[in-house]
Amino acid sequence: MKHLIDPTDLTFEETNNIISLAEEIIAHPEYYTARMSGKKLATLFYEPSTRTRLSFTTAMLELGGSVLGFDNPQNSSVSKGETMQDTVRVLGCFADIIAIRHPVEGAPFAAAEVSPVPIINAGDGSHSHPTQTLTDLLTIKREIGRLDNITIGFCGDLRFGRTVHSLIKALARYNGNKVILIAPDDLKLPDYIRNDENLQKTIEFREVSTMEEVMPELDILYMTRVQKERFLDQEEFDRVKDSFVLTLDKLKPAKKSMAVLHPLPRVNEILPEVDSDPRAAYFRQVQCGKFVRMALLSRLLDWKNDPKHVMPEKPVLSAEVCRTYRCSNANCICNKEPVAPYFHKIQDGTVRCSYCDSKARMV
Ligand code: NCD
Repeated sequence: MKHLIDPTDLTFEETNNIISLAEEIIAHPEYYTARMSGKKLATLFYEPSTRTRLSFTTAMLELGGSVLGFDNPQNSSVSKGETMQDTVRVLGCFADIIAIRHPVEGAPFAAAEVSPVPIINAGDGSHSHPTQTLTDLLTIKREIGRLDNITIGFCGDLRFGRTVHSLIKALARYNGNKVILIAPDDLKLPDYIRNDENLQKTIEFREVSTMEEVMPELDILYMTRVQKERFLDQEEFDRVKDSFVLTLDKLKPAKKSMAVLHPLPRVNEILPEVDSDPRAAYFRQVQCGKFVRMALLSRLLDWKNDPKHVMPEKPVLSAEVCRTYRCSNANCICNKEPVAPYFHKIQDGTVRCSYCDSKARMV
């Protein structure tokens, strides 16, 4: 069965197939109105959301399917202490496919371990957000016509911004992409991505301290919100919260063809005066999110019993060796709920948690 937990769970071909289907749906929405007739999507949202949950809902409704679930876990048996895995087992009895958002890293991976139906990660902590990535890829393709040979500047909270983490992984699969990181010291991209040898093979990384110095060379400017809810320390948050703000003035030297993306919600990092500039693509991006989720739901259900579409093999360490390690991330599902620990080794020999990618330590 095919789940979508990490962008690389989809092969390069599957990713492009979903993007092409989304474009086909945009061109001929009338052909798809009954595609999911009789099918049910469950949305289990343990964390606030507007766009992601409602675009999943709209996507399923526009395909002729229906939607159930919760947007506040306090209204479900979660408030009685039910584990996330048990809730998923239960919803798997009712729904054909499940989209789950959770504040704890690795929760969707743990959901996929027990689910009888495909699981879609709709955002896990500061880790990953693969459906926003599909949204971003479709938007980039429609705005500038290609997914390779792009210079993209990521600006703002690159430490907790899960959409950035996932999009960098996805862009690394296309040729010639250059990533410019624009963030204050406290909000830099996590090392597990910045130093990933696989990503470095195809992506050229550069770090700068202001957006002004790179504006003329960017094809895409990807703005992000400082993720207040993930800071443990209010003072640290206050220090960085207004770090990088896009104004019309700063946009002046940018290419006419550049597109400004933002996964939204924005707080103050893009002034409203920018909205009327033709390069402001963030509301068109929201529209792409609905179409790409229509394509994703269709494909994951088409592929459910197809042996050609399975999860990639992950070289996990043996159960015996796994018992000798512990994940160093206190906000990982393996340190929150009774799930089996899984660890894998990356090329430089570091052992990492398979749920959340954090470094493991020996116990
Ligand atoms: C993002 C998220 O939830 O990670 N929003 C979204 O899904 N469109 C970004 C954010 O919350 O800042």
